[in-house]
Amino acid sequence: MSDRAGHRGAGAGTHAAAIETLFQEAREFPPPPNFAAQANISHPAIYDQASADPEAWWAAEAARLDWYRLWDTILDWDPPFARWFVGGQLNVSVNCLDRHVNAGGGDKIAYYWEGEPGDRKTLTYNDLYTEVNKAANALKELGVRRGDRVAIYMPMIPELPIAMLACARIGAPHTVVFGGFSAEALADRINDSQAKLVITADGGYRRGKASGLKVNVDEAVARTPSVEHVLVVRRTEQDVTMQDGRDLWWHDLVPPQLDWCEPERMESEDMLYLLYTSGTTAKPKGILHTTGGYLTGVASTHRNVFDIKPDDVYWAAADIGWVTGHSYIVYGPLANHTTGLIYEGTPDFPDPSRWWDIIERYGVTILYTAPTAIRAHMKWGPQHAEQHDLSSLRLLGAVGEPINPEAWIWYHEHIGGGRCPIVDTWWQTETGGIMISPLPGLTVTKPGSAAKPLPGVFADVVDDRGEPVPLGEGGYLVLTRPWPSMLRGIYGDPERYKTTYWSKFPGLYFPGDGARRDEDGDYWLMGRVDDVMNVSGHRLSTTEIESALVDDKRVAEAAVVGRADDVTGEAICCFVILKSHVEPSPALGEELRQHVAHKIGPIARPRQLMFTPDLPKTRSGKIMRRLLRDIATGRQLGDTTTLADAGVVESIRDATRAATDDE
Ligand code: PRX
Repeated sequence: MSDRAGHRGAGAGTHAAAIETLFQEAREFPPPPNFAAQANISHPAIYDQASADPEAWWAAEAARLDWYRLWDTILDWDPPFARWFVGGQLNVSVNCLDRHVNAGGGDKIAYYWEGEPGDRKTLTYNDLYTEVNKAANALKELGVRRGDRVAIYMPMIPELPIAMLACARIGAPHTVVFGGFSAEALADRINDSQAKLVITADGGYRRGKASGLKVNVDEAVARTPSVEHVLVVRRTEQDVTMQDGRDLWWHDLVPPQLDWCEPERMESEDMLYLLYTSGTTAKPKGILHTTGGYLTGVASTHRNVFDIKPDDVYWAAADIGWVTGHSYIVYGPLANHTTGLIYEGTPDFPDPSRWWDIIERYGVTILYTAPTAIRAHMKWGPQHAEQHDLSSLRLLGAVGEPINPEAWIWYHEHIGGGRCPIVDTWWQTETGGIMISPLPGLTVTKPGSAAKPLPGVFADVVDDRGEPVPLGEGGYLVLTRPWPSMLRGIYGDPERYKTTYWSKFPGLYFPGDGARRDEDGDYWLMGRVDDVMNVSGHRLSTTEIESALVDDKRVAEAAVVGRADDVTGEAICCFVILKSHVEPSPALGEELRQHVAHKIGPIARPRQLMFTPDLPKTRSGKIMRRLLRDIATGRQLGDTTTLADAGVVESIRDATRAATDDE
């Protein structure tokens, strides 16, 4: 009953037939009657209504926003290019701030913020409105105009959403780069997006230490000719170098600005932001999201999936540097006039009860987090949560990777006190918003299943030829119709957009995940079927890490796979072939792991690195990753460098000898 093998890693084949469904979970949890009675959505007819006329459904959701001008056309679909609410004009910051303030809702708290060292701030909608207007004027003073790109590389401090909303106000698309990425990764993203301005901080707090961010920006902008200025928030007060004429302090530039900045009237299809994500090659993709459809999608799904009420205290414990933060810390919640919570640091600082302390102190009603965090809390034990009163919680959510049933049940019992529905939400950077999820007042949930596509979303599970597979069988997840918050492309690369998402099954969007539907039609996600790993809910490309390894002159070839890990979902394992004159050693292994962390960021630091004389390949030269995964998983290798022993060498050699083109 508690086996989770069928959820993770089982999708790791390239043939639908190889996607096995080993796992059957039979428990069911109907919505508690008192929850169902008060839910925003409590009638199943909503699915049929949306299916009968999806465009009308989405148009009704869009009409909840404030538009300067309504659209002429709901959807212009020229596959695979969609345009939503064409002709409509709106401004995202106005929808997130001005309309609430103008309606008398300015005194409501927009964010409770808590820094890792324990410092606290409360920002009302009025406060946020003033700060955003001033920051928008500051950006203009720095020469940022409508259409210019702005890179944001910040810790989880209030200035981060303020910077994003200021960009949205003046129509300058932002690209937020997660603070855990390296200088090099930052530089690549700045160069791809041609950002003119970088907004950063001196550093941020993580695990009790002040880490540096400005120092990485300095290294990055040395090779990003597009950058004219760097705007720096003082957070940790560590020493930083400020380059005259280029670098400015936020506290010098922003506070004296006027507290009104005329918002730009944006076209529905104007770019709101780029967010880079890993794919199957070494080059990250700039996922492009636009204005009207995106805001419609995130506001609608936030309200419906999280059953948002005016007095909720909602906490998405994610980083704003990932899409979850964009859609469900910033844009969705603010569009819905929600009170949210932002916490800067790690869940175990100063000890593993930090989150539960926060929930009790602020009376958090909704918690949304990743399975990897839930599993970490499981490991630390339920006693930390037990010391706190978590009775304010009424709904729990999960995102980022398949949730295994034990983690689901633990979350339900120890955090939700057995009374809170759990919404397991499937989506991705590209979809912009939640696609497959329970509706908490309606859905009978099953631990490990993301339930059904939301109203207005259409999915299927297909085989190699793109034919739907019968209920109960595994296959590839596809989305069969365009949706408002879908990506509009990969920045600067329409061909890659077509081949990555639309070429495997013509006419169908392929997200890269395996899935099966059970007899009730509920979806069970089975992990990635391509060369993308999911480590702690973060997407990393095996190819990107392989490139970082072969970038070291001593490495001849490298293969990277993810192996199942109890806490992080997957852990990065590297097989490295050295050039003939180089001797393998644990010290060299450590150096190479460090090199990867430096090239991509600490999140990409390999858990395990093994030197090997060979790699198992098919006759056509494709690396047999499945075999490497088996070796990595089966051998329980330590978390460090391993020199290939005879057994591993033998199995790799056997496989190489027996290689066929089947993999
Ligand atoms: O494989 C799926 C997994 O995370 C991928 C998307 O990663 P990213 O773009 O970084 O966005 C993460 C936050 C939305 C998906 O292709 N994934 C995400 N949510 C789930 C999931 N897998 C199973 N169940 C989920 N609820």
